[in-house]
Amino acid sequence: MDTKFRKKHLITCQDWSKGELDTVFEVAKYLKLKHALNEPCNLLKDKTAFLMFFEESTRTRNSMEAGITQLGGHAHFLDTSTMQINHGESAKDTAEVLSSFGDAICVRNCFYGIGNEYLRTLAKYANVPILSLQDDIYHPMQVLADMMTINETFGNPRKLKVAISWAYATSHAKPLSVPQSQILMFTRYGMDVTVAAPKEFPLMSNIVETAKENAELNGGSLKFADNMEDAFRDADIVIPKNWGGFLGVEDPATAEGKAQMKMNLEKYKDWICDEKLMSITQKHSIYMHALPADRGKEVENSVIDGRHSVVIQEAENRIHTAKAVMALTMGGR
Ligand code: CP
Repeated sequence: MDTKFRKKHLITCQDWSKGELDTVFEVAKYLKLKHALNEPCNLLKDKTAFLMFFEESTRTRNSMEAGITQLGGHAHFLDTSTMQINHGESAKDTAEVLSSFGDAICVRNCFYGIGNEYLRTLAKYANVPILSLQDDIYHPMQVLADMMTINETFGNPRKLKVAISWAYATSHAKPLSVPQSQILMFTRYGMDVTVAAPKEFPLMSNIVETAKENAELNGGSLKFADNMEDAFRDADIVIPKNWGGFLGVEDPATAEGKAQMKMNLEKYKDWICDEKLMSITQKHSIYMHALPADRGKEVENSVIDGRHSVVIQEAENRIHTAKAVMALTMGGR
């Protein structure tokens, strides 16, 4: 168990040792129990976290805001469209100024090809922790909650069979960050992961390579399938979710790229998680989704509301893991 976290950035869990991740899970469990007992836990009294959002959020914003309140501190919600960033203020100046005011800068920037670089630049100049609230490559806060949920359900995650599947959705082109963070995390815990996706929806090749190395080092595996059935068969955990086909077109930022992404998407309307697919998983299998889900497109209501679904537990664990990360990095040793 590693315990030195103070001022540590969290941009991807891959940058944190397994000892550090295990500490996060222990602290999250401790804080969940303290909350259940209604015991105050003012670990961040008088501390301030700035929450900068370039995009919409329900779970991430509110788990951070409610989380720091429960720890005795305070969060400032910053809609970046109302900040001087909107007039072009640099990441360096933003990082240095907010560092002088508070104790953490937490950021969601999912713009493809931009978000992660923005967070890395903030981290270069900030002297407080930069905590990612999701970028175009990683979503560390989500995958910590996912792993906590898996640990709660199964105890030991080693050799669990996980299906991470692309699914159809029309609400928006969802970032690559959730499945990419999941393949990186799950392979570190020795899980057997199969990613199913149509050929136009690949994940980033460097992430896949790192996940394969994680699997080799930790006794897990990472495989790929071109259909949902192959991934779902006998799975203990299924995570069907859309991600945009950013890598399946020449330039996703252009009008032509966006049109091509839409054309690719519409070919795969039948990639929905339904009861028939759930019937080929293990009887004890769990259905997970980071939420928000496109009901009727990514998943049938009877599945997301059914006996396999742990989505509300998974969402609740966002606050316990967020509190653990904040307590350790903003207030720890
Ligand atoms: N899963 C997740 O990050 O949800 P929000 O977009 O609502 O924050």
